[in-house]
Amino acid sequence: MKTVRVGVVGTGFIGQVHLEILKNIEGVEIVGIVEPVESRAREVAEKYGAKPLGKVEELKEVGADAVYITSPNRTHFDVAMRAIDAGLNVFCEKPMTISLEDARALEKAVEEKGVIFQVGHNRRFAYVYKFMKNLIDSGEVTPYSFQIKMNRGELLNPPWVSDVTYTGGFLFESTLHLFDMMRFLFGDVSELFVLGKKSVYNDYDDWAITVKMKNGIIGTFTSCAHASWMIPFERVEVYGEHVMLSNDEMEKVYYSKGLGNEVEIHDYMKVDFKEKWGYVEEDHEFIEAIREGRTPKVTVTDGVKAIEIVDACYRAVRGEGPHIVL
Ligand SMILES: NC(=O)c1ccc[n+]([C@@H]2O[C@H](COP(=O)([O-])OP(=O)(O)OC[C@H]3O[C@@H](n4cnc5c(N)ncnc54)[C@H](O)[C@@H]3O)[C@@H](O)[C@H]2O)c1
Repeated sequence: MKTVRVGVVGTGFIGQVHLEILKNIEGVEIVGIVEPVESRAREVAEKYGAKPLGKVEELKEVGADAVYITSPNRTHFDVAMRAIDAGLNVFCEKPMTISLEDARALEKAVEEKGVIFQVGHNRRFAYVYKFMKNLIDSGEVTPYSFQIKMNRGELLNPPWVSDVTYTGGFLFESTLHLFDMMRFLFGDVSELFVLGKKSVYNDYDDWAITVKMKNGIIGTFTSCAHASWMIPFERVEVYGEHVMLSNDEMEKVYYSKGLGNEVEIHDYMKVDFKEKWGYVEEDHEFIEAIREGRTPKVTVTDGVKAIEIVDACYRAVRGEGPHIVL
């Protein structure tokens, strides 16, 4: 089995989640850490037997094949472009960029350099959404319409989360995951009718969007940044012919099998979050794609298409909207 040597740029919450998973994948070596907080860099490097380094390019000097970019949103584009230029394969946390222009430039660079690039849309590997996707792909559930919500309780913690120069805007945060999920389950978007406003914060923190997909499926999507963390803050409801799918975050999935029939329920409450949120499988997928020299299941183009939806929403509220045709 080919050894895959990886480095990690940014070792806060999600960087350490990936490190914990990577250390348990057979044939993976963690060789370098790039982290500006020196004490953290030293501690994490020591824990995983890696070298603390100053910048992403130095990963090549310690023999890395790939880098995980898990630093804040606004750093992703620059670090990813430099990594690709150095010939590294890249796993980039979402959002892969905070503008559509940069997303397209990144896609072009990935294609030109032929590196393997995966974007961190982990929900595609989460148990609840895999269950829905399998039923839709097998034809057992044919969706006609849907309702999606992705809320946050606040934009107070961490303090930078309300700073649009840092995040790119609220929609680039967890809302982006469910824009990607909408495409994953229902295909590409053709039209949006977008209402957004600044209710509590100096950012568009309330969104009500009506969506038409290219295959004719219609749905609604809401996202609120000041919802108080009442659960479930994340939910997808899929409506077929007297059948329905729904979830409570990553904890439970429901399948109503028709009028007068049972509701099948799967409860993942006791499963480790790294598994049920899809992080373990997405990391295995990236490492296998490198070993097999193939395109991973979540591509740079998937990253671009999710950001196209975000961009359309911001264009709508900044003067072009409310009706946007993609
Ligand atoms: N896919 C998911 O479910 C998921 C979950 C959490 C976070 N994320 C994304 O991952 C990224 C990091 O989020 P987090 O919650 O781990 O944040 P965090 O603040 O906990 O960690 C970020 C780390 O990056 C370091 N850093 C800052 N600037 C840097 C730079 N220029 N180069 C290298 N490192 C730098 C910080 O010192 C910190 O250690 C964000 O883009 C976020 O949107 C994704």
